[in-house]
Amino acid sequence: MSEKTNESRIFEQTPEASSRTVRAQDAQARPDATGKACRPSGSGGQPDARASRWGSRNADRTLLFRPHRANSAWLNLGQRVFPMVLSSDLPVDLEAAILDLKRERNALVLAHYYQEDPIQDLADVVGDSLALARAAQTADCDLIVFCGVHFMAETAAILNPGRPVVVPDLEAGCSLADGCPAGAFGEFVGQHPGAQVLTYINASAEVKAMSDLICTSSNAVKMVESMGGAPLIFAPDRHLARWVSKQTGRDDLIVWPGACVVHEQFSARELARLKVRNPEADVLAHPECDQGVLDQADFVASTTGIIQRAVEFPERPSIVATEEGVFHSIRQQAPGKVLIPAPGADESCSCSQCPYMRLNTLEKLYLSLRDLGPEVSVDPVIAERARVPIERMLALS
Ligand code: 13P
Ligand code: SF4
Repeated sequence: MSEKTNESRIFEQTPEASSRTVRAQDAQARPDATGKACRPSGSGGQPDARASRWGSRNADRTLLFRPHRANSAWLNLGQRVFPMVLSSDLPVDLEAAILDLKRERNALVLAHYYQEDPIQDLADVVGDSLALARAAQTADCDLIVFCGVHFMAETAAILNPGRPVVVPDLEAGCSLADGCPAGAFGEFVGQHPGAQVLTYINASAEVKAMSDLICTSSNAVKMVESMGGAPLIFAPDRHLARWVSKQTGRDDLIVWPGACVVHEQFSARELARLKVRNPEADVLAHPECDQGVLDQADFVASTTGIIQRAVEFPERPSIVATEEGVFHSIRQQAPGKVLIPAPGADESCSCSQCPYMRLNTLEKLYLSLRDLGPEVSVDPVIAERARVPIERMLALS
């Protein structure tokens, strides 16, 4: 899709606010986990920079489309395989059926801002990683349904021992979590004896269990500052690490070199060209973006921060360098606001959609509530260790 088409698409869309959705704008959370089957190419050990290029991402996307367990069929179109949930399994009014099941199960549905619009509309809480972790910590329900990626649901499970946590699609992973395997990370930590370990919440339970403190993009600066001046390992996002390092003046961070396949593909060169065509636009970027993109940003923040800034200036167009799921919330609060997705190097792709987050669909949400699965489980010993740095972060935030 060309940038021009992207821009026109934005003018055409009108958001619908949902009275059923409670927004968690205060941003505080903690997630975690590993999406084992949809790891990007080269992510078996140290993260592979090639995973952010479109060639390998497109290849990954083919693998990412898998049928929901036991409730779907394969649909072969050329070389690609797409999931096809059997329509006979589904009620005609899916939204009403989901609401009925939520009541029946006494379930709490949590959704990240990167989920598709209909899922956000049906959720009890929509938020960024920190807000969702907080919501999980204070959950009062019989079942948590986590619409996000695996590390987020894993965090909810760690904070809720004994309470089932289910997800629409167990394969929804994250390039950061998948690119930091526990074995290799343990060796990395072992190479820096005496260093404290601060881990971004986008990591598996096993990696969290090796950490002294967890952070999210909205509290990373504060968490680094809370750790004093001792040697500090920061994992697994090198871009967030570099941004935090600049904000705190800590140029001695020991960094695990992972990256997000979505944010890393935004192109600084194409962004500069887009800015020339939209000189009045405010550029909003997530700190997982590359330095060349962050250098051109007017505002750098977590998803909640980006939404708040966009809503604060409803008349000013925004170029947004994060997953385009945030547009839904912005449009609900600032109807008519002009939103322009930041461009990737390849303008023919849906670059600003996270292929992992987008594995979750309304159909799979319905099935997870109906079948009480797939359930996210964490080894109790790992969970007990991982809970300590997560709760420490929540107490400090
Ligand atoms: P937030 O913590 O800003 O919600 O970010 C989560 C994430 O996965 C970013 O890619
Ligand atoms: Fe992971 Fe990036 Fe997707 Fe966020 S957007 S869940 S960091 S792959």
